[in-house]
Amino acid sequence: MSNSSPHWWRTAVIYQIYIRSFADGNGDGIGDIAGIRSRLPYLAELGVDAIWITPWYVSPMADGGYDVADFRAIAPEFGTLAEGEEMIAEAHQLGLRVILDIVPNHTSDQHAWFKEALAADPDSPERARYWFRPGHGPDGAFPPNDWRSVFGGPAWNRLLDEEGVPEDWYLHLFAPEQPDLNWSNPEVRREFEDILRFWFDRGVDGFRIDVAHGMDKHPALPDIGWDDEELLAEPELADHPHWDRDGVHEIYRSWRAVAESYAGTPEGARVFVAEAWVRTEANRLARYLRPDELHTAFNFDFLKRGWDAAQMRASIDHTLGSLSEVGAPPTWVLSNHDVIRHVTRYGRAAADIAKPAGTVPVDLELGRARARAATLLMLSLPGGAYVYQGEELGLAEVEDLPIASLQDPIWERSGNKHRGRDGCRVPLPWSGEGPALGFGDAQPWLPQPTEWKEFSVQAQTGDPNSVLSLYREALSVRRSLPELSGLSGPRETEAELVWRDSDADVLMFDRGSSFRCVVNLGQEPVELPAGAEVLLASAPLPDGKLPTDTSVWLRLSS
Ligand code: NOJ
Ligand code: CA
Repeated sequence: MSNSSPHWWRTAVIYQIYIRSFADGNGDGIGDIAGIRSRLPYLAELGVDAIWITPWYVSPMADGGYDVADFRAIAPEFGTLAEGEEMIAEAHQLGLRVILDIVPNHTSDQHAWFKEALAADPDSPERARYWFRPGHGPDGAFPPNDWRSVFGGPAWNRLLDEEGVPEDWYLHLFAPEQPDLNWSNPEVRREFEDILRFWFDRGVDGFRIDVAHGMDKHPALPDIGWDDEELLAEPELADHPHWDRDGVHEIYRSWRAVAESYAGTPEGARVFVAEAWVRTEANRLARYLRPDELHTAFNFDFLKRGWDAAQMRASIDHTLGSLSEVGAPPTWVLSNHDVIRHVTRYGRAAADIAKPAGTVPVDLELGRARARAATLLMLSLPGGAYVYQGEELGLAEVEDLPIASLQDPIWERSGNKHRGRDGCRVPLPWSGEGPALGFGDAQPWLPQPTEWKEFSVQAQTGDPNSVLSLYREALSVRRSLPELSGLSGPRETEAELVWRDSDADVLMFDRGSSFRCVVNLGQEPVELPAGAEVLLASAPLPDGKLPTDTSVWLRLSS
């Protein structure tokens, strides 16, 4: 049975499944629920506490399923509702909690509501669920305001009536196939609370909230007014008319009440994690995690930092300080389906860390050493952590996907300027054999690099030096240490982080009286404390010293 503590989420390690690319159970080249079910034992053995599955709902897949046409049904290419329910039960039997992805900022343009809106009059209640507006200028030929789509281009699309005559525009902060919902409409609010209950009633332990900072829009839809086009879709600027507005918090207070109403059920109260890109310095993230709002949020500030001790320490300190004010646990994440895999990021020169895929040189050997070290850092910090599928295999970003295979709408919307996110979504190599390296029996939906045969689960299993072995061991050690996992009781057993004096390019901290983590981000090997027992190291320790780009977990002698 899953960890039954009501505080399980405070220290959970959650494995992100990008369903299309995890495992293909029926041999059509697309990952699915059957594939997930066949690999649940692998995940239980890996030692994670929960899985988060990216959207599996009915969708035309204009944005990898983040364009949902029916929130209460599973896409046939992924499986059936019955299979989904069986998967949830099987995961629970293996001790794994299940988190789904909810996408409340927008629907698909194929959602029944949007189709009804298109068929209805401009002032109809059907259109009032979205943001329809007349355009500016003669004949309304210009968009209603200057808002930009995150994927490039204007955030407005103009409708044509049946005779092909242009009429109103509608808002889409992402692709045109993802019209934004109007959250000032009580019907929208009721509908989503009902969707939450639909899945909670099926045993789902929680939700990751997509674009959690985007639902509240300034009712007057004012221009943003910045000259720089790139900045218009940038969530990290103050007083934005559609990002991180105070009105979102009211939504989360009612969602929290829905989650708490499940406290008496076998799974207990349900939980939320926010995907919120907000301003770090202004402490905006903590606002989402006040006691009557969401439980946790992804810590993108940490993910964005380069391989630099001062930067990482500053991010850790800011995170711990700001979240402790609201009593929320931190989380740590290095990769996900939207960002360049961290093996590749850390293998780049510091100035290039945020550059688009395929545009700058990379040293993958260096990146892999640092990624191993970063894993031990992440898994020994307070709170919870996210593992993105394939990072436990040391996979790098695939930066040279053939242009013809690219699926991410970013490629088209950016006018073929940015390749987009497909390079971190390439299907996993399991056995290393066959047309899809064990992902399934058919050519996968995105081609895999042939060298991934050497990175397959099968190739790495039993090899004590593999990345997979490092993750398995790290998760097992973490679980066995109450000061890290908080598992031997409620959260009280989790120990605080205390920094120890070290060189500026070394991170050294204790958790409790005998656990220490040391990360060497400098150029010289570092002496380790005398008499300490090595619990785990990300690389060999020649002469008992900690080499460059290496981490170690120590048990200090008393
Ligand atoms: C964030 C998701 O992670 C991303 O994949 C998606 O494109 C956008 N939200 C829009 O839903
Ligand atoms: Ca399939």
